Amino acid sequence: MKKKINEMTLRLPAISINESVARSVISAFVAGLDPTVEELGDLRCAVSEAVTNCIVHAYRGYPADEPGEIYISVRLYDSREVTVEITDRGCGIEDTDLARKPCFTTGESGERCGMGFLVMESFTDYLSVRSKRGEGTTVLMRKNLKP
Ligand SMILES: Nc1ncnc2c1ncn2[C@@H]1O[C@H](COP(=O)(O)OP(=O)(O)OP(=O)(O)O)[C@@H](O)[C@H]1O
Ligand SMILES: [Mg+2]
Repeated sequence: MKKKINEMTLRLPAISINESVARSVISAFVAGLDPTVEELGDLRCAVSEAVTNCIVHAYRGYPADEPGEIYISVRLYDSREVTVEITDRGCGIEDTDLARKPCFTTGESGERCGMGFLVMESFTDYLSVRSKRGEGTTVLMRKNLKP
């Protein structure tokens, strides 16, 4: 049975500076498991994509002084498993299977390329996306660090 050895939760406003804040805080936290540079890079990339999606899509159209919130939970296990859960209470995703397809985007005028979920999936060992229209989205990622 795997045992949880550390846990962190973060709540951040959905503003663009917090993409790098989330990345840095999670790096520092996961460093406790002594990951390789590559593993850390993978996690940083995956987290960036998920947080960026909250900022860009979840709260699209919100006024600048009410940006919405991003909730991030990170858990470390003695099996060297890392889980990262990123939740927003924004617009939600109509069809998560479709949203996960490469090149699917609702971004306007070529500003997005629809690769975020693919990046999250390829840089982690497991990705799940749960979402309800009008209620928000939770992305769960798991990465198994090398022994
Ligand atoms: N947290 C979210 N809330 C609402 N919609 C989302 C959220 N995350 C993703 N989506 C929807 O899923 C689509 C695909 O997301 P994905 O990250 O793969 O691509 P993208 O953000 O459009 O482009 P890219 O990440 O390459 O810049 C988005 O265009 C958006 O419609
Ligand atoms: Mg994206």
